[in-house]
Amino acid sequence: MIAVTGLTKARGGVTALADVDLEVRPGEVTAIVGPSGSGKSTLLRCVNGLETFDAGSVCIAGHQLAPGPQPPRLLERVRRDAGMVFQQFNLFANLSAVDNVALAPRVVAGMATEEARRRAIGLLDRVGLASFAAARPGTLSGGQQQRVAIARALAMEPKVILFDEPTSALDPAMSEEVLEVIVDLARGGQTMVVVTHDHALARRTATQVVELIAGRITRLGPPAAVLAG
Ligand SMILES: Nc1ncnc2c1ncn2[C@@H]1O[C@H](COP(=O)(O)OP(=O)(O)OP(=O)(O)O)[C@@H](O)[C@H]1O
Ligand SMILES: [Mg+2]
Repeated sequence: MIAVTGLTKARGGVTALADVDLEVRPGEVTAIVGPSGSGKSTLLRCVNGLETFDAGSVCIAGHQLAPGPQPPRLLERVRRDAGMVFQQFNLFANLSAVDNVALAPRVVAGMATEEARRRAIGLLDRVGLASFAAARPGTLSGGQQQRVAIARALAMEPKVILFDEPTSALDPAMSEEVLEVIVDLARGGQTMVVVTHDHALARRTATQVVELIAGRITRLGPPAAVLAG
């Protein structure tokens, strides 16, 4: 699903990523852990074409990304197949939960309004929020907003979902709600990459854990091996 080879990126003379090799197979959940500033977000953003890189290659959901700027139409296809969930939710504040989820299917995929809403309500139900369909993001808790963001990512039926610290803006109870949703998606075979500081999240969702330090992969393996100690 994702094959990263020799990925290298410098920023202002500082190495952000150094010769990173990573493979994510379909149905696998990869957790990326490591200290602040180690390049976790940069790796995720290079993988879905939000940032350019200097050397190496990325193959994601059948799309091939090369160093340097990439054609906009390629990037559109990559982002359609690779959903993204951010720490700060990034929901549209002026749209209800259901409209947040239905927007991309309508606008990007050209789905009829009623069909998009019907599917959006089904997705909100899947993340435990069917009764909040009409709510604006500002009236929801952080955990609820993040679950809407996950439903929104699911709406495009992505081949892979990339999460950047999905629980780090949340208190423990809300983190747990979001973790349950991610565990449920993992059980359903959804391919995911989860950047997280939360080792419990990594332990409970990941099939492989990658530790990144100063832009290099320092450890890679099953959660029990990499997260021990
Ligand atoms: N927009 C930017 N411009 C310049 N340098 C940046 C930028 N974003 C990140 N960096 C630098 O690149 C390196 C990797 O940053 P990155 O955000 O990928 O780390 P991270 O592992 O996600 O950290 P955190 O856990 O704090 O989110 C760091 O040295 C950081 O300071
Ligand atoms: Mg980060």
